Amino acid sequence: MPELSVEAIKGRPVAVLGGGVLGRRIACTWAAAGYTVHVRDPSEEQRNAAIHYVEQNIASYAKTISCSNPGKAIAFEDLEPAVKDAWTVIEAVPEKLQIKIETFADLAKMTREDCLLASNSSSYKSGEMLDKVDDVTKRRILNTHYMMPPDNRIVELMTDGFTDEAVFPFYVERLQECGMSPIVAHRESAGFVFNRIWAAIKRECLTVLSEGVSTPEELDRVWVEMFSGGKAGPCAMMDAVGLDTVVFIEQHYVKERGLPTKDTVDFLQHNYVDKGALGGKSGKGGLYPAGYTTKSTGEESGHHDNLHAPTLYYLDLGMNAKDDIMHAGKIVAQSASGKEPRTLVSNLTLPDGLDISVKDNRIYWTNMGVPSENDGSIQSCKLDGSDVKEIIKKGDVHTPKQLIVDQKNNKLYFCDREGLRVMRCNLDGSDQETLVQRGDWKVKEETQDSLRWCVGISVDNKHGYFYWTQKGASKAGKGRIFRAKLQLPSGETAANRSDIETVLTGLPEPIDLEIDEEAGKLFWTDRGDPPMGNTINSVDLSGLTHVEDASDNPKYNILARNMHEAIGLKLDKKNQHIYATDMGGFVYRFDIDGENKKRVVDAEDRSFSGITLAHV
Ligand SMILES: *[C@@H]1O[C@H](CO)[C@@H](O)[C@H](O)[C@H]1NC(C)=O
Ligand SMILES: *[C@@H]1O[C@H](CO)[C@@H](O)[C@H](O)[C@H]1NC(C)=O
Ligand SMILES: *[C@@H]1O[C@H](CO)[C@@H](O)[C@H](O)[C@H]1NC(C)=O
Repeated sequence: MPELSVEAIKGRPVAVLGGGVLGRRIACTWAAAGYTVHVRDPSEEQRNAAIHYVEQNIASYAKTISCSNPGKAIAFEDLEPAVKDAWTVIEAVPEKLQIKIETFADLAKMTREDCLLASNSSSYKSGEMLDKVDDVTKRRILNTHYMMPPDNRIVELMTDGFTDEAVFPFYVERLQECGMSPIVAHRESAGFVFNRIWAAIKRECLTVLSEGVSTPEELDRVWVEMFSGGKAGPCAMMDAVGLDTVVFIEQHYVKERGLPTKDTVDFLQHNYVDKGALGGKSGKGGLYPAGYTTKSTGEESGHHDNLHAPTLYYLDLGMNAKDDIMHAGKIVAQSASGKEPRTLVSNLTLPDGLDISVKDNRIYWTNMGVPSENDGSIQSCKLDGSDVKEIIKKGDVHTPKQLIVDQKNNKLYFCDREGLRVMRCNLDGSDQETLVQRGDWKVKEETQDSLRWCVGISVDNKHGYFYWTQKGASKAGKGRIFRAKLQLPSGETAANRSDIETVLTGLPEPIDLEIDEEAGKLFWTDRGDPPMGNTINSVDLSGLTHVEDASDNPKYNILARNMHEAIGLKLDKKNQHIYATDMGGFVYRFDIDGENKKRVVDAEDRSFSGITLAHV
């Protein structure tokens, strides 16, 4: 093969095939060291998420290697343009042998003859993927296995049985420049050095659990204490990786070595995987309950890393601006551990509600404008904050509040407070409809009547309803939550529809809503007076029916108290957490039952409104 040199690869991209959880971290690793990285993924949502992940994290990756000139990641749908000039292609496609064989056959044809082709497979030898490539190409194929940068920087390299000897020192140096810790296996092996040892540890841990000798908590505690510096024990790490993947990998060893399956594969399959409890990614927990693997670094010894933690997006109203408060609102994006806030968009006029669609690569938000004037608007931008567009123009909505994206039907729902209505439109703002009209905002007594003010909104597609709040005057105890059918009854209008039900009444001052369809629960923030107000609340959807007065209210739960003018609310269903904001400058995280309050952002001079999140 042609000689490898730094000169020969200069200006050429690194291509990463697969923009999933690992693929986007590999892409960020190389981009942070100054390379242009081509991320190829057939799924648009994965491409958006991968590019957004790199934008959000590249600065912190680059800081760890003191790189002052990081590169960037570019997304590709098609394989050929993504790999054409690359000096290396890192394959991170799903762990299915046939897909890997076809991928290497394509890469042999589409890449330059000095391009190094690296497989990320840990359980197949790359020798098994060479069915359709010629002997010359085999010399530039190798196996590289990344653990999970940035938290774990080990990369193992291994021959496919034919790899040119010169490839290893060259690749090791490039990885070291990226701040990675490469090690080279001395011969081909099913499973790399670490993976083999790790497989044995997992096997014995699972057997200990399966036999009922110990619990995940005790086992991990012993581990963390014995192997000092270890942040997590094997059980938490298995949850972070995913129990389905643990089963999948163990099946290879079972096949290769004729191992028994009772206490490993079968134990996990029957007790966890068959029930959908796959660990951190599943929302149903794994060896540990849901949310355990996203405890942020340093918080407790038992966490793994933040692999399954969301990125938070929230609105800063700009109340601390020195002069022009009416143009001081902004959208901030931040990791759930509270690190590295980035302002995505600024110069907003009292923004209130926001939501995100990774699939469409866009963020949507409302601007209240001057509350007493008919000058509200709705805007949207790309995930990186660029391409800000007005999708509902100033004055087509009076004072818009909470906004949500209905991903299933590609609709935006939002409430219009002084406009006295609930509205819906397409994601580009077209087909704006009024769903509920509570009065005529042009009539002064009506627009000022806070009993008519619509604020929070949520949709229950499963049962065909939308829910909204009408908060009443500040701290007045006249707040209500209503619902109506997604489909307007025929012959009726937003002003006279007959299907509106009052499901809760006499609340201190309910604000934002969210429904967890799977759990069958409605959650809301309330900014009224303590002890019932300034709380987070939930109620079972199944118990809701029309009520005439507060004594008929169904029993609901106050999950958390003592917030400082509670506003925004978003559920992280994957980790079973609640995120909430308040006007007192806090972003909080709670467990889904309201326990374990943690202040993610603590900024007393600021005021926050809407919040949303994405797992990227
Ligand atoms: C290789 O990458 C793919 C895509 O990110 C992932 O599904 C698979 O689990 C990875 N394999 C290993 C062994 O890391
Ligand atoms: C801020 O937004 C207003 C419109 O709301 C616009 O007229 C103005 O030019 C913007 N200023 C900056 C600095 O972008
Ligand atoms: C609702 O209003 C529409 C339009 O004014 C009218 O045609 C319809 O009969 C009304 N329906 C009811 C139930 O009042």
